[in-house]
Amino acid sequence: MVFDHVDFDDHEQVTFVNDVKVGLRAIVAIHRGRGTTAGGGVRFRPYPSDDEALTDVLRLSRAMTYKMVLARLPVGGAKSVIIGDPSRDKTPELLAAFGRFVESLDGRYTCGPDIGTDEHDMDIIATETDSVAGRASRGGSTAPPTAIGAFHGLRATAKAVFGSDDLAGRRIAIQGAGGVGSNLAQLLTEAGAEVIVADVNGDAARAVADTWGATAVDTDHILSADVDIVSPNAVGAVLDDNSIPTIRAKAVCGSANNQLARPEHAAMLADLGIAWAPDYVVSSGGAIAGVCDVGIITPAERDRKLAAVYDTTLEVLETAMAEGRSTDTVAGELARHLLVD
Ligand SMILES: NC(=O)c1ccc[n+]([C@@H]2O[C@H](COP(=O)([O-])OP(=O)(O)OC[C@H]3O[C@@H](n4cnc5c(N)ncnc54)[C@H](O)[C@@H]3O)[C@@H](O)[C@H]2O)c1
Repeated sequence: MVFDHVDFDDHEQVTFVNDVKVGLRAIVAIHRGRGTTAGGGVRFRPYPSDDEALTDVLRLSRAMTYKMVLARLPVGGAKSVIIGDPSRDKTPELLAAFGRFVESLDGRYTCGPDIGTDEHDMDIIATETDSVAGRASRGGSTAPPTAIGAFHGLRATAKAVFGSDDLAGRRIAIQGAGGVGSNLAQLLTEAGAEVIVADVNGDAARAVADTWGATAVDTDHILSADVDIVSPNAVGAVLDDNSIPTIRAKAVCGSANNQLARPEHAAMLADLGIAWAPDYVVSSGGAIAGVCDVGIITPAERDRKLAAVYDTTLEVLETAMAEGRSTDTVAGELARHLLVD
């Protein structure tokens, strides 16, 4: 049941989509529409059960609302999950059918890429609806703007923790050398930081290291590396009971969504004196670019909002440090405050 689900947070609309002809089974959740549209990516994953898909879409859509309000974007949060293995089940027909469903929502939901979908898939969805951000043919990948936002988040983190946002000479460990991690490595090395990078795909890490003058290392010890800041840019749930006590850096700041394995890990980080910049504050660059893509904000506003990731990250970290609270508590409170304004 949805209404009594533990992650149900008065979501405005949760729709189960079933198109047997093309094998489409999806759940689309609009958490808050905020009177305009609600934005959020399309996650394509072979969920082990329908319940896990529902849990994911309810949590992720709520996190999107937080991400949107903290980025001061005039849109709400939503998310879609398509249940299936993208390498086997993702067909143009399925994506087009999903596009027709998005179109039926009449602008209330704007989709974009997420795990298991990319900018080329968005082009196919866009054959059926205009409510699509992050298309290859318009705006392109959201990874570069996400990296720009994360870069500003890292500068703010350095300011809060070390007293200066100058990253020259700062040692930063990047987990994940994919779309975001590789762009971030470029921005950081150009700013004079000393970057180490690890990826389960060793070739990806070596390519980033060779191109930007970083150092590729083993994935096993990247979070516990002897650096100033650790930057997770790979997968979620990397901050857990096992990894947190091994962190030697003074701060953690990266774009990976849902970095905390459980909400209480925010307090565990705070108790150990590790400043954690919440992912939903730091990783809004893709959403900001997507909202620009569909014409809701101008390119100049997009650039201002990307730069403003610095201000929000700094506000959250400084407030949390001054009040001895976790950054997750402070950022959540700020998001709820902005939401009722
Ligand atoms: N791309 C965006 O616009 C965007 C926006 C917001 C948040 N994010 C989040 O940022 C993260 C990175 O996104 P991306 O677009 O770069 O994805 P990506 O798939 O391009 O890159 C992820 C990289 O992480 C590597 N990886 C996977 N598991 C790993 C592990 N355990 N250790 C080290 N490396 C590992 C993969 O091999 C891959 O190279 C994701 O968590 C994503 O949800 C991305």
